[in-house]
Order: sequence, then structure tokens, then C-alpha cells
Amino acid sequence: KYLQEDDLSQECKELIPTLPLEKGWISTNFHQYQGFWISTMFLQATLSCQKHFQALDTDILLVTTPKSGTTWLKALTFALLNRNKYPNIHNNHPLLTTNPHVLVPFLEVDIYYDKDFVPDLKTLSLPRLFSTHIPYVLLPNSIKESSCKVVYLCRDPKDTFASLWHFSNKVRPQCSEPLPLEESFEKFCRGVCLFGPFWEHVLEYWKESLEKPEKVMFLKYEEMKVKPNFYLKKLAEFLGYPFSKEEESEGVVDAIVNLCSFEKLSNLEVNKTGKVGFGVENKDYFRRGQVGDWKNLLTVEMVEQLNTIVEEKLGKHGLNF
Ligand code: A3P
Repeated sequence: KYLQEDDLSQECKELIPTLPLEKGWISTNFHQYQGFWISTMFLQATLSCQKHFQALDTDILLVTTPKSGTTWLKALTFALLNRNKYPNIHNNHPLLTTNPHVLVPFLEVDIYYDKDFVPDLKTLSLPRLFSTHIPYVLLPNSIKESSCKVVYLCRDPKDTFASLWHFSNKVRPQCSEPLPLEESFEKFCRGVCLFGPFWEHVLEYWKESLEKPEKVMFLKYEEMKVKPNFYLKKLAEFLGYPFSKEEESEGVVDAIVNLCSFEKLSNLEVNKTGKVGFGVENKDYFRRGQVGDWKNLLTVEMVEQLNTIVEEKLGKHGLNF
């Protein structure tokens, strides 16, 4: 969806000419707002979200940079919170017939995308579960001030970049040429990617998780791939919905991990054929789901360059990949 002038609020219209501008990866513009590169549509949505979203203490917010494993985190958290409602995971679980992005809405994509329409979120059942790519500095104040929980999932930037490049090629208009890899890589290294710089996004939430571990939980995709059961249990404890000994011995943790695995979700009919919206097909959210697939895309020089940046930006803060 490409925004017209009329789709923008007065505030957004006045803000945009004051912001640095770059051509985005797909056919949109990026505006640099408070240090972060945001497309016009998501800038409008971020402002609208800041204005209207009222967090409740019981809310749960899942945060990622694009392509860091959002779909997986949504599925796991939805399944863990709703495990009593859908005890028979193999029969009638919503994840078997509905894409995780439909079950857990994005604040900026699904809720605040329209400058005039503000949905009533009071009727949602508790705890409300939302997700977002919005950087910490731009989150609505009520999220920061309430006791709501924030779960941040990050991923090795090399795999995040590779995933983003493949995804951008899939969702860009079919008539256009494939994105030149070098150009996208150069932009990523300069921090110019949706909600980038990647490292600033990660760093903000990393610092918050160190300062307020009861509010912000910081997860890594690679670690979750190795020990999904362990991290699902940690996530459940953090959110205040721990698994009981009985649940564990009955195999509830295993069942949720299996249901949400790449293999299971990507092979469901709904995720092979359906569409979430904005022209994105459900299958585009499931590519390979592996750690280290960057090896099939990046040159030795690219790896060195990105590793150096990441070491400088994140390594000194104790964040390594
Ligand atoms: P790849 O492109 O490396 O395969 P997001 O959900 O944030 O858009 O991220 C998409 C990435 O997560 C893709 O990575 C996708 O394959 C992977 N992914 C999707 N579902 C997953 C799952 N259930 N488990 C692990 N990875 C998953």
C-alpha cells in the first residue's frame, strides 16, 4: 500500500519535510526520525500509535527488527498464553488454520495504519498481546510507564540481512528488477533499513533489559533454535504464566515447541497458500528458518565488513553473535 498525501495526518505532513530522506529498499521513502529510518506509512502509524495507544499493566508486547523471527515468537507466545483454552493442540488449535500474524497484530501494521481510524482495543481479552518493530525511543509513553511486559527477540545481523534481502525481493512489485545485493548491503551497513540502524534498535532494548529485567526480556534467535524448550519455559515464567510440573510431564512444553516449529508451521495449508494483507503471502514469512544461511549469500568481504561494524557497535556492550 502506497500512501497518498491525504492518508497522512497534519502532524506527519509537517514533520516529513524536516527529516533526512533516503530511498528505501522497496519503492518507498525512508525518513530518519529520532535516529531511525522509517517508511512513510510506518512513520504515520508510529505517530498515531504514540498518540492513541494506552498500555495496560497486563499487556504483552513482542518486539523485533524485521526478519528476526517475529513469526516464530508470535506463535510461541500465543500458544503459551492460550494453552488452557486450546488444550488439544493437534485438533483445533488456531495456529493450525491461522497465520501467527493474524493472531498477534502489529501495532504499526494492523492497528494504527490509518490516520483517522482508531480501533477500540478495550474489548480485547486479557492479557492483550501485540507486536511491533517500533524502536524503544519511539514507543508510546504508556508502554514505558506501565508494568506491561516487553519481549525482544534479536537475530545475528548477517542472517537478518540475508532474510530481509530475500523477503524484500519477494514482496517488491513483480515488474521491478531484483534488488542489487551490494546496494542493499551498503544501505544496511549505513543503518538504512526499515526501523534501522539494526544495532541501535537492538542496543536500546538490550540496555533496557539490563536495567529493567522484570520488564524487558531479551532473547536471541540462535539460542532459541538450540534450546527452544528451555527458552519457552523462561518466556512463560517472565510473562507470569509458568508451566507447572504436571504440564511439563504431560508434554505441554514439547507440544507447543513442535506446533510452532518452522517445519510444522511452514507446512500448514494456511501458511502455504494464504495472504496476511499488504500483498504479502503467508509463505513469504517462512523461507529456511536456519542459523547461518548468510553463508549462501554474503561474500567474504561483506562478512568481514558487517562483523567489524557489529563488533564495534554491539560487542563492546557485551552483545555477540
Ligand atoms: P529466513 O529468511 O532466514 O528463513 P520474521 O518472522 O521476523 O519476518 O522473520 C522471518 C524469518 O524467520 C525467516 O528467516 C523465516 O524463515 C524464519 N521463521 C519463520 N517461522 C519460523 C519458525 N517457526 N521457527 C524458526 N524460524 C522461523
